[in-house]
Amino acid sequence: MEIIIKENGQVASEAAARVVARLVREKPHAVLGLATGSTPLMLYKELIRLHREEGLDFSQVTTFNLDEYIGLPADHEQSYRRFMNESLFKRINIKMENTHVPDGMAADVPAACAAYEQAIVEAGGIDLQVLGIGSDGHVGFNEPTSSFASRTRIKTLTRQTVADNARFFCGDECRVPKHCITMGIGTIMDARMNLLLAFGEGKAGAIAATVEGGVAAIMPASILQHHPCAKFFIDEAAASKL
Ligand code: GLP
Repeated sequence: MEIIIKENGQVASEAAARVVARLVREKPHAVLGLATGSTPLMLYKELIRLHREEGLDFSQVTTFNLDEYIGLPADHEQSYRRFMNESLFKRINIKMENTHVPDGMAADVPAACAAYEQAIVEAGGIDLQVLGIGSDGHVGFNEPTSSFASRTRIKTLTRQTVADNARFFCGDECRVPKHCITMGIGTIMDARMNLLLAFGEGKAGAIAATVEGGVAAIMPASILQHHPCAKFFIDEAAASKL
């Protein structure tokens, strides 16, 4: 694990964006794994800036997102597909058909999950996976006790995650979907590079346990200790318990 601590989230995101940009310049057909949540927004803004000001070219890039709520149509205000379209895809020159987000409305969820895994393999595997981290250490929606061998599948959100994410649903936990589709931890570990972002004091406990604690399913991100290329870009607040 490489832990890069910057004075704030903006500077950390700019540093992370340089890693993504280097890959895209060296490998125009790069396959990126992307994340939602508030954390990667500064990274996406920086990638948009690099596209507009420095011509960073996404025309041949393929993306796979980590997760999606079950039961939210793609155009729902809080669907992760919509989040990605608005926060990044519509603002760079990526081809929409090369962007993948699990389908939260799939009639046959297990089949859709298997197809998602297959599509990643057919694309050549993920070169670089962007990750946030939940306050309980989840990555994607792989909640504590998720199997380290897990692949894309349906998951039930923990009460903690429902409470954390209620802020996006007018503060109303009842409106937060309780199920999701998420890449598995095995899927994430197959990425050639994992780039985890964490900002703010609220993430300090999860970061300390992930980096300095034992590798255990109760702290899903801790498995990254075993990843050959895991880079953490975090701010001083998220690093405060290290
Ligand atoms: C959700 C997402 C995760 C994300 C987490 C943290 O649960 N599924 O991928 O890492 O939220 O969100 P935030 O970045 O808003 O703190």
